[in-house]
Amino acid sequence: MKPSVTARTDVERMRGEELIRLARVLNIPIFKRTIKRSWLIDELMKELEKRDELSVPPVILESPAIILKKVSKRFGKKTAVRSLDLEVNPGEIVGLVGPNGAGKTTTLRMLTGIIRTTSGFIQVNGHDLKKEPILAKQRVGYIPEKPTCYPSLTAREYVMFTARIYGVPQETALIRMREFVDLFQFDEFIDSYVGTLSKGNLQRALLIGIFSREPPFVLALDEPIYGLDPRGAWNLKKLLRQLRDTGSAILISTHILEVAADLCDRFVIMNEGDIVGRGSYDQLRKQHPEAANLEEIFLNLTGGIPE
Ligand SMILES: Nc1ncnc2c1ncn2[C@@H]1O[C@H](COP(=O)(O)OP(=O)(O)OP(=O)(O)O)[C@@H](O)[C@H]1O
Ligand SMILES: [Mg+2]
Repeated sequence: MKPSVTARTDVERMRGEELIRLARVLNIPIFKRTIKRSWLIDELMKELEKRDELSVPPVILESPAIILKKVSKRFGKKTAVRSLDLEVNPGEIVGLVGPNGAGKTTTLRMLTGIIRTTSGFIQVNGHDLKKEPILAKQRVGYIPEKPTCYPSLTAREYVMFTARIYGVPQETALIRMREFVDLFQFDEFIDSYVGTLSKGNLQRALLIGIFSREPPFVLALDEPIYGLDPRGAWNLKKLLRQLRDTGSAILISTHILEVAADLCDRFVIMNEGDIVGRGSYDQLRKQHPEAANLEEIFLNLTGGIPE
């Protein structure tokens, strides 16, 4: 992915009506009744190249990009998360794994500022979530466990709307949207109302919304693979690895261990609100020589292997 300079191939993959929209955003006058696609792309590239020269240098994330220190959350008498310490660096995918009710979703909801911590400190890209909530939240791309979204917008409207909220120039959002619509094979649904989308397609729409922003990203993804079909899952995993390799910081919750093993550089294993294990696969294997695989390590740490 190119953060600032627009490649001609990115524009060439856009549909006719998207090119016209892009021309409007860039104030390129279109007088002729019929226009040649190649002429329009030439004009668009001339204008985009002018803008690329003025574009800001790419963002470099703070290291660590995510910091949680002694974070706790109580719901009444129930402690959902207990004194959790967690860091994610740029260039890392960290897997938050644990059984149902372990506290994964609660952790991600605190990190994204949706719910408040009972105690503890959270920082995103150098911004204290309590003192600079807007700056901290602006950096995080979040996919909730149960995706919800404005039902009366079309997916295209939703993506352009999120891009505007995050201050992404409209031309950039239009070009990026096409890239991710292709990646997630979403063409058939891009003009559908969000309220009519299936779970997996809604998840794709939210992902396209997140990725319309400027990389590198700080991502908090709650079971992002779960609703996707095998092709969608494969594409997302490939993309997440690419983003990791270009400096994004990614925290992903899952109880599907194959996903975790396949994707994450390190794991944080939670059980009933506590961290019960952490480390890379190799480190965990060394700590638990009795276990044959990640599944056995996980089961040992979270209540034992069933008889
Ligand atoms: N708003 C809430 N009010 C009361 N209890 C809550 C609330 N949100 C979460 N909990 C409780 O906190 C605990 C942790 O829940 P959480 O959703 O974080 O688990 P999880 O690890 O994401 O589980 P799963 O794998 O099932 O998604 C659970 O016992 C849950 O019932
Ligand atoms: Mg959850």
